Amino acid sequence: MILRLLLFTCAAMTSSVATSAEAPGLIPRPVHLTPGDGPTMPLTATTALHAAGAAAAVATWLRDELARSGAAIAAPDAGDGQDGITLRLDPGLAAVGPDWAQAETYRLTIDAGHATLTARAPEGLFRGATTLVQLAEQTGAGWRLPALAIDDQPRFRWRGLMLDCGRHFFTVAEVERFIDLLALHKLNRFHWHLTEDQGWRIEVKSAPRLTSVGAWRASSPVMGDAGKADGQPYGGFYTQDDIRHVVAHAAARFVTVVPELEMPGHGCAAIAAYPELGNRDVPGWQDPQVGTHWGVFHHTLAPREETFAFIAKVFDEILPLFPGAYVHIGGDEAPKDEWQHSPFAQQVIAEHDLKDAHGLQAWFIKRVEGLLTARGKRLIGWDEIQEGGLSPTATMMVWRDWKWAKLALAAGNAVVMAPTSHTYFDYAQSGTPRALDTQRVFTLEPVPDGTPATQVAQVLGAQGQVWTESIGSADKVEYMTWPRACALAEVCWSPAEGRDWTDFQARLTRHLALLDRDQVNYRKDDGAPARSSEAMAATPHPPLP
Ligand code: ACM
Repeated sequence: MILRLLLFTCAAMTSSVATSAEAPGLIPRPVHLTPGDGPTMPLTATTALHAAGAAAAVATWLRDELARSGAAIAAPDAGDGQDGITLRLDPGLAAVGPDWAQAETYRLTIDAGHATLTARAPEGLFRGATTLVQLAEQTGAGWRLPALAIDDQPRFRWRGLMLDCGRHFFTVAEVERFIDLLALHKLNRFHWHLTEDQGWRIEVKSAPRLTSVGAWRASSPVMGDAGKADGQPYGGFYTQDDIRHVVAHAAARFVTVVPELEMPGHGCAAIAAYPELGNRDVPGWQDPQVGTHWGVFHHTLAPREETFAFIAKVFDEILPLFPGAYVHIGGDEAPKDEWQHSPFAQQVIAEHDLKDAHGLQAWFIKRVEGLLTARGKRLIGWDEIQEGGLSPTATMMVWRDWKWAKLALAAGNAVVMAPTSHTYFDYAQSGTPRALDTQRVFTLEPVPDGTPATQVAQVLGAQGQVWTESIGSADKVEYMTWPRACALAEVCWSPAEGRDWTDFQARLTRHLALLDRDQVNYRKDDGAPARSSEAMAATPHPPLP
C-alpha cells in the first residue's frame, strides 16, 4: 500500500494530527502525522535493522530499547535494505524551520513491512528512534508498528529538566534513569543542580574540602515536619569519574548536561569547607556549618580577588568534564545583608563606583561570566542575575515573574522559561492553593504574551524543576516528575497550533504503557503512585565516608 507521504513543502510546519481515536499515543505530539492504510509491521527476531556509519550507535540504542519492550529484533547491520527497519542519514532531507532545528529533524515512514527513519544528523535519528520505541510499546503483545508517515522537528531548542542533587543526593544510577526518561520524551537538557547550602556534590581535587566537608551535613529536616531535625548525618558526592559516566550516558541520548554551581548565594556548604570564601569581616561573623535546614541562607561569597581565583581554579578543573556550552551559575536568592555589613564589600562598591549591593551582585556575576567566557563557556543564571544590571551576553532562566523575561528579551538577551506557575515539579499536584497539575503544565506558553515577533527566537525553550527539599528518594522524584514532564515535553517540542488537552489525555493514557514498562513510579490520575508508596516516603541515607 502506498502511503500518502507528507512533503516539506510549506515554509513553516503546521500541525496536522490525526484524530485521537486513530493516532498512536505519541508524546510529544509530532508536527505531522499521517496514518497509513497499510497493514501493521510485525517486529520479530528476524526483523532486520539496517544502519550504516554514524547511524549505528542509534541503532544499537533502538535495538536495546525494543528488547526492553519485549520486541527482540535482529542485531544492526550496515546495509540499507528494503526490509525491516532502516536508519538512514541523509543531509539532503528537505529543510524547513530554523537552522538550529535541522539536526533534530526526522522523517519516519512505516509501510509495506518496512520502516525507514531518515535524518540529517544522528541527533535527528535518535529523536525519531524514540518515536519508534513509543510506537512499539503501545501495540501490545505481538509488537507491531502501525503504518504511518511522520515529519517532525522541535519547536524549541532548550527542553529541560532540572534535578536538585544538593538538598538530597541521588546515585549515578538514579540520575541516569532520570536522563533515560527525559530522553524518551525528546527532552534534551539535564540541568544538574550540584551545589547548595546543604551539600556540595562534585569532586574538586584541588579543593578537597569542598566534598570532604561540604558534601556532608550533620542533620536534615524531618520529612513532612521541616521544623524538626532528624539528627542523622547525610551526604554524598559525585567523583569526576561519576560525572564523566553521567555526561557520556546523556550524550549517547543526545542530552546535554548543564551543571549548576551556585554563587554568590546558596554557597553555605562551600563556605563551611573554605571559610575564607565568606564575608568574614562582617561583625559577629561565625564560620558556618553545612546547612541543616531549608530556606534562604544569608551567607554569600565574598567579592574578593581570592574568591574569583578559587572559582577560576574550580572551573579549570571541572568545566572540561561538561562538553556543553552553558554553565549555570545560580545567582538566585543571594541576600545582600552580609555585603551591606562587610567593610570590604562596601569598599568594592565604592572602588568600582557601583550603586549598591545589587550593583555588586551584577559586578560579581560579570566577573564570573568573564571566567566562563575565557574558558569557552556561556553563562546562564536564574532571573536575579538582572539585579543591578543584566550582562548583555547572559542567558536568563526565568523562574519568578514573567516581567523579567520581557525585560531580558527587550534587552536582547536569550531566556529559558522555568516559571514557578507552571514548571516547579516539587509543588504538589493537587490539594493546595498553588497546586500544579499536568493540565496546568500543559497550558504553559513559553513565549510571553505580547512578545514582538523580532524577539520570539530569543526564547530558547522551557524547563521543569525538581527541587528536592521534600523529595528524599528516586521513587518520589518519579512521582513528582511524571506525567507532568510529559506535558512539558509536548509544550517544548510540539507546535503551539493544534495543542489540545483532550487529545493529549487520550495519547497519555496509551503512552503510560511505556512508563509501566520501565516501572516508573508516576502519579496516577487518582493521585496514587504507580508503583510504590513506602519507598517513596523513605529518605535513604547514603553511607558516610
Ligand atoms: C529558585 O527556585 N530559587 C531558582
